[in-house]
Amino acid sequence: MKKIGILTSGGDCGGLNGVVKGAAQMANSLGITPYVIPNGYAGLYNLINMDRLTALTPDRADKIDANLAGSDAGHSRVKVKKIEDSKKYERIKEGMKKFGIDGLVISGGDDSGSVMVDLSEQGIKCVHAPKTMDLDLQTYSVGGDSTINKIAQYVEELKTTSITHNRVMILEVFGRYAGHTAFRGGVAADADAILIPEIPTNFDILYKHCKERYFSRILKSDVLAGCYMIVVAEGLKNVDGSEIYDESSEADSFGHKKLAGAGKFVIQELTKRFKADPEIKELMKKAQMYVEKMNEIPEIRSVVPGHLVRCGHSSAYDVCFGKEAGAAAVLLLNAGTVGVTVVGIDGNQVRYMESKKAIEQRHVDLNQVAVYEQMGVCFGRSAVNFAPKFEKAEGRITRHL
Ligand code: F6P
Repeated sequence: MKKIGILTSGGDCGGLNGVVKGAAQMANSLGITPYVIPNGYAGLYNLINMDRLTALTPDRADKIDANLAGSDAGHSRVKVKKIEDSKKYERIKEGMKKFGIDGLVISGGDDSGSVMVDLSEQGIKCVHAPKTMDLDLQTYSVGGDSTINKIAQYVEELKTTSITHNRVMILEVFGRYAGHTAFRGGVAADADAILIPEIPTNFDILYKHCKERYFSRILKSDVLAGCYMIVVAEGLKNVDGSEIYDESSEADSFGHKKLAGAGKFVIQELTKRFKADPEIKELMKKAQMYVEKMNEIPEIRSVVPGHLVRCGHSSAYDVCFGKEAGAAAVLLLNAGTVGVTVVGIDGNQVRYMESKKAIEQRHVDLNQVAVYEQMGVCFGRSAVNFAPKFEKAEGRITRHL
């Protein structure tokens, strides 16, 4: 390998600049010149038209702030296989040849990873550095930890306004069809309920938990103050398994429609039940909150941080993992081990998986959910007790969030 391209793709997130910087610095140390392929797969497809590429020389790489989320290499959501050009793979190869690029480090999630698998099958040498704030790959992926920290921070901060107004507060967060970041962020911030796509929500159960905890908190408070915090993943499933989409949005090239409205849906379902519940009037009176026609049921609000859960600064964990994943990808490319996904650097082992396997979607483990259910968190179903088995761990521990 003399020259390599670094490409980032899909939704951006924390830790990605760590990947770019780690890949560039490792490449430079091996005498390989790293180049930025701008704008993800769109840029790769259009490489042939470009006049110049930016080399991440040691000085240029030094300027990348690894702590900033997002990617200096830029992104797009382009599924190469779907480009209506019968010569698309030849065009990409010609573009790479034009700049003497021997191989690619590609950082992306399951969709971008599937494109990487496709390119590998077309004979393009590439290694995948896992990235997605959704955390739904088989390996750890940069972005997960940063997002979890942000979600936890937002829930914590929302508590001040929620308690002041005695409100039920809902935070609706990204994560697509997996609930990993809602789950961990919610747990980290002591949320009362966490609704994830892995568990279709039974709103009667959520309502009961909410009513009991909300009023008990307020009635036990010496200043009659309290709130109830819900974290809901955008991929929320209703009890019948249906999802909530933004019907006005078009599907992207990977066939995903924009998920939106989970928070509002939770408001509707809880409001209906508060209004229909004959005990609420009495409870509102006990809490000294009742005012006829003005304040008859608890107020519910929903906040949607959207892209705020994946921007700004990255967690230190993601920067470290990102740098290692980028560096490991270059080491693998240089060793001729291609078509694989980096797992991490463990001691002196560069660990990797076949990419096809690594990008298989991973969901929240319901055993983990049961641990927190037993400790009182509501997941919108009848609480299941954790059923522990005991095992003495040997060697290195590889489990991740
Ligand atoms: O897959 C990452 C992700 O952040 C999802 O959690 C979210 O649904 C989606 O990307 C949002 O994508 P975009 O930035 O294209 O709106």
